[in-house]
Amino acid sequence: MADICVLGLGYIGLPTASVLASGGHGVLGVDIDAGIVATVNAGGIHIEEPGLRTVVNAAIHSGNLRAATAPEPSEVFIIAVPTPLAENKRADLSYVRHAAQELAACLKPGDLVILESTSPPGTTRDLLAPMLAEATGLKPGEDFHLAHCPERVMPGRILKELIENDRVVGGFTPACAERARDVYASFVEGKIILTDATTAEMVKVLENTYRDVNIALANEAALLCEELRIDFAEVGALANRHPRVHLHKPGPGVGGHCISVDPWFLVERFPENARLIRHARERNDAMPEHVIAETLRMLAGVESPCVAVLGVAFKGNVDDTRESPAIDIVAGLRDRGVEVRPHDPLARRAPFELADLDTALRGADVLLLLTDHDAFRAIAPDHAARLMRGRCVYDTRSLLNRPAWEAEGFTVQVLGSGR
Ligand SMILES: NC(=O)c1ccc[n+]([C@@H]2O[C@H](COP(=O)([O-])OP(=O)(O)OC[C@H]3O[C@@H](n4cnc5c(N)ncnc54)[C@H](O)[C@@H]3O)[C@@H](O)[C@H]2O)c1
Repeated sequence: MADICVLGLGYIGLPTASVLASGGHGVLGVDIDAGIVATVNAGGIHIEEPGLRTVVNAAIHSGNLRAATAPEPSEVFIIAVPTPLAENKRADLSYVRHAAQELAACLKPGDLVILESTSPPGTTRDLLAPMLAEATGLKPGEDFHLAHCPERVMPGRILKELIENDRVVGGFTPACAERARDVYASFVEGKIILTDATTAEMVKVLENTYRDVNIALANEAALLCEELRIDFAEVGALANRHPRVHLHKPGPGVGGHCISVDPWFLVERFPENARLIRHARERNDAMPEHVIAETLRMLAGVESPCVAVLGVAFKGNVDDTRESPAIDIVAGLRDRGVEVRPHDPLARRAPFELADLDTALRGADVLLLLTDHDAFRAIAPDHAARLMRGRCVYDTRSLLNRPAWEAEGFTVQVLGSGR
């Protein structure tokens, strides 16, 4: 019997399972995707994350980690399955429900169930607890322990942050929180703070909402700066010299499956009162249209226009394209008859074909930069000038060295700059 069963072997579950196994726990990793299970059992990984391959490989070879497509009896169950949005911007909790049903068949008195998936406030108390009680006949908080422990790691730094970040542990009862704390204390070096489950859920959703609202403010200010013919990059940098101001950066929209998703959980639950949160989401979701309109303006009068899109991942230096604004921008330009050649050196699972850099640039009228990958800083303007037909750059991330591109004869437009 495993000590700990982790349901969902994605960006969160696989690192968590392998770190727990490295710490000496017997861990069963469960995923409904048989391909993922086979890869992990062979000591491999199916996602790119620095250091993960080594940790998973060592955990499998130590015998402490194995994977399967269904849970087995354990002392602890950690649910790390997706919580995406359904079409109507409502939380899709079907993966959580399914995982709970599966583990209920193995649950026995004294066990601990931890929900790690980011969830609408109230999910542990009002959905998971009654579901598990009904399926097992056991009382949450009395016969078994139940907690919500949200995850705060950042892709690209997951293994480091899993250990170093502070953790909020929310119990169904105070005793449940204490029991869950003991699991995290075995590998977390940050502080572990105990609270109730609904507070922990709200903390996680609010953290991402804070960032979404902050980005929306930056996006709105960027549009105002364009009209004022000044540069948001300068305004933001100067404002951030105030000791209590921390403005985020504007951009072509907000992607990924956290910041662009979680605020909707509050809008769904509080349609009347979560007004600022809804407006922020709508502001950020409108940015792709702004980018499309500006790009079309740059293409005005060009016959058979062609755009090289640099960057499809939702943010710099990651491979993740989920909810990326680039997807809407590419589709929107194509809908308006523009030939678009997207290039991204890192992106995985892009919903369209990607070109290499030179193919994307060859014959293009506009270079449209959408993602702040470090690799794009190294593109030589004279190389682009030799390949491109036009001399226009639209930098939506304020990434490129503007004087160097202008020296090569390019007109450079920067999102948020009216200069
Ligand atoms: N990725 C991040 O950076 C991050 C950060 C903080 C919180 N979160 C949250 O963590 C949760 C998981 O996110 P992720 O990025 O790891 O998702 P993911 O899509 O990378 O992985 C989830 C895995 O769960 C599997 N799965 C689905 N249903 C299952 C079931 N019933 N039983 C077993 N496996 C099942 C899927 O096949 C998939 O492999 C989400 O709620 C997310 O919002 C993610």
